[in-house]
Amino acid sequence: MPYTVKGVVARSKGKPVSLETIHVPDPGPGEAVVNIQACGVCHTDLHYLEGGIGDGFPFLLGHEAAGVVEAVGEGVADVAPGDYVILNWRAVCGDCRACRRGRPWYCFNTHNAAQPMTLEDGTPLSPALGIGAFVEKTLVAAGQCTKVDPAAPATAAGLLGCGVMAGIGAAINTGGVTRGDSVAVIGCGGVGDAAVHGAHLAGATTIIAVDVDDRKLGWAKGFGATHTVNSRETDPVEAIREITGGNGADVVIEAVGRPETYRQAFYARDLAGTVVLVGVPTPEMTLELPLLDVFGRGGALKSSWYGDCLPSRDFPMLIDLYLQGRLNLDGFVSETIGLGDVDEAFAKMKRGEVLRSVVVL
Ligand SMILES: NC(=O)c1ccc[n+]([C@@H]2O[C@H](COP(=O)([O-])OP(=O)(O)OC[C@H]3O[C@@H](n4cnc5c(N)ncnc54)[C@H](O)[C@@H]3O)[C@@H](O)[C@H]2O)c1
Ligand SMILES: [Zn+2]
Ligand SMILES: [Zn+2]
Repeated sequence: MPYTVKGVVARSKGKPVSLETIHVPDPGPGEAVVNIQACGVCHTDLHYLEGGIGDGFPFLLGHEAAGVVEAVGEGVADVAPGDYVILNWRAVCGDCRACRRGRPWYCFNTHNAAQPMTLEDGTPLSPALGIGAFVEKTLVAAGQCTKVDPAAPATAAGLLGCGVMAGIGAAINTGGVTRGDSVAVIGCGGVGDAAVHGAHLAGATTIIAVDVDDRKLGWAKGFGATHTVNSRETDPVEAIREITGGNGADVVIEAVGRPETYRQAFYARDLAGTVVLVGVPTPEMTLELPLLDVFGRGGALKSSWYGDCLPSRDFPMLIDLYLQGRLNLDGFVSETIGLGDVDEAFAKMKRGEVLRSVVVL
């Protein structure tokens, strides 16, 4: 029996979202229907609404979620009804050239559900990041479901489905942060603070949080920042160099997604250091840098898709750290809200009042 549920849809660019009736088909081969319990509001949902990620409207928003599997389609062996799962937006294929080379976190052929979810009139929806989880039930590829310990509440666990995983992974997986490193994080929203917390977990000894908002800097301290810089008042490149003995940080993580903050990251790292771009730019943005500086400063300029995570490896491990009290997922939950409150959550995000608003169903 197909399902009729309520979900949050962006019908057109920049307009308020609407709560719509949505048809979710029974899972086909390789698919699963999941009862969503909680879904965080990520800046990427706002990018979708503002037209920054293509014009595939109407979008079914939400993609940072945990819930319980309701039904699975033919041939699904890894998850079963009743399993508690975090949804991931990079279900690796195991067969593309990246997977075959043993680097599945770069998978070039990640899986989503084959069937569409639709509005009442049959209009197919584009689910955000192939998930769409501001909805009572969603349809995904079974590989997008990662089983974790149900002792972790969905409000916390769901955050690993996007922003917090992206931030922690940007530090640990992409940036390779390790004991004794100096790390700077530019942009301390949910993703940036997760990078701060990841650097702290990995043993970095100098962790510099940079933001234009003092509230964000206060929260960053709670996640392990040893220094803070308000870049509205202070040149962040100078400040980061000063804090690191004139050198720059070993790893600088850009978690805003803008050319000017990328440039700051580029010049705030030490010679042979690493820049990690985890913030997502929009299509019109371009970057100009002296090529001699790109060469002369050496090191690595990397981007981080989803924190270069492997959900099957990283989600259960991070949930274990959470249950042991070593990973503060609850600290990212600024408020819990209902499906009808997503527009207001975007407004709060723009005003810098929240790290994560989490929709609870
Ligand atoms: N790479 C990935 O896989 C991935 C995953 C999730 C989100 N993202 C992206 O990461 C970025 C951050 O997401 P978020 O959910 O943390 O957003 P957010 O809105 O919660 O945080 C953005 C932060 O950047 C700060 N900021 C804005 N302009 C700044 C500037 N000029 N200098 C310093 N700080 C500035 C804001 O004050 C805010 O604290 C977004 O671009 C989002 O799309 C990427
Ligand atoms: Zn692959
Ligand atoms: Zn996201």
